[in-house]
Amino acid sequence: MTGNRSAKVSIDLAALQHNFQQVKKYAATSQVMPVIKANAYGHGMLRVAESLTSADGFAVAQLPEAIALRENGIDKPITVFQGFSNQQQLQSVFQYSLRPAISQHWQIDLLATSEQTSKIDVWLKINTGMGRLGVQLDDVETCYKRLQNINSINQTGLMTHFANADKPDHKSNQLQLERFETLSKLYTAQTSVSNSGALISNLCKKQDWVRPGIMLYGASPLSDKTAEELNLKPVMSLYAELIAINEMKKGQTVGYGDSWVCPQDMRVGIVNIGYGDGYPRHATAAPIAVNGQLCHLLGRVSMDSIAVDLRGVKAECGDLVECWGQQVSVDEVAACSETIAYELLCNLG
Ligand SMILES: Cc1ncc(COP(=O)(O)O)c(C=O)c1O
Repeated sequence: MTGNRSAKVSIDLAALQHNFQQVKKYAATSQVMPVIKANAYGHGMLRVAESLTSADGFAVAQLPEAIALRENGIDKPITVFQGFSNQQQLQSVFQYSLRPAISQHWQIDLLATSEQTSKIDVWLKINTGMGRLGVQLDDVETCYKRLQNINSINQTGLMTHFANADKPDHKSNQLQLERFETLSKLYTAQTSVSNSGALISNLCKKQDWVRPGIMLYGASPLSDKTAEELNLKPVMSLYAELIAINEMKKGQTVGYGDSWVCPQDMRVGIVNIGYGDGYPRHATAAPIAVNGQLCHLLGRVSMDSIAVDLRGVKAECGDLVECWGQQVSVDEVAACSETIAYELLCNLG
């Protein structure tokens, strides 16, 4: 966390290694590029890259992330999902020997007209149903041929991304896969399909590179399975401190909007973390651990504080409070906050 706030984040690199080993079990025959965009989902991009020594490469979203990795000595293949958006950025792609994903004809135009002395690998990203970045199915042949004819390109891989990998039985997964495989069969190109959810569900049986993100950080990529069930360990823990204990009377209210009314005389704890620190403002009755005991939030989240229900909890001011981590799953906090663990983790970045 920033130095002038009280909340603390700790990162468990042994848990990261453990999760990487889980990835390897699912991806026995594929190379692994951990996805470390958004500051490695809030965990510290460089720290994570340096720690994952067995990774075959890495993937980031944007060029500055890739350049930062290179400038800090990471020399493995780095895929840049958003590629480049102008000639100057393309120069950096060559200078730092990066592997951009290509999803627009004008990017191919830039590659075709740029004079280079070195060669790079690229990915052609295919829109099989995600509808975000990726060329349309009927444009793949043209784009692939154009890329193959560019001297400064070594190899062109084919990549796609599932829109519903968190729900393995979703009908669009098979449709996307069929579309991808129909096309990729036509070329002798490297392929990359699976994110964490697709990898665990074994949606794509054969591919050269997998791209796990969230599972490495110990949150569940599947909507119907917990991280624990998947043998994933939380990497990030978020801690704060119990700074007040209030003896409240039945009928008294807690926090903005009077949203919690004490149903009985009870002890309410105040913890020095809020949405100003990255704790989700929409959290409702989220689990939290005070001095190692599970309890839950009361009322609304403020900028710098939250209230917790101390009924049945042994606590005193100064106690350590875990907002998520070993005892409290970030997935559960996310579920109580109308969001996903990805967002909570990234917000701490
Ligand atoms: C193209 C692409 N591949 C892989 C991933 C990793 O996904 P996950 O974190 O669900 O494993 C992402 C993340 O959003 C992505 O955008």
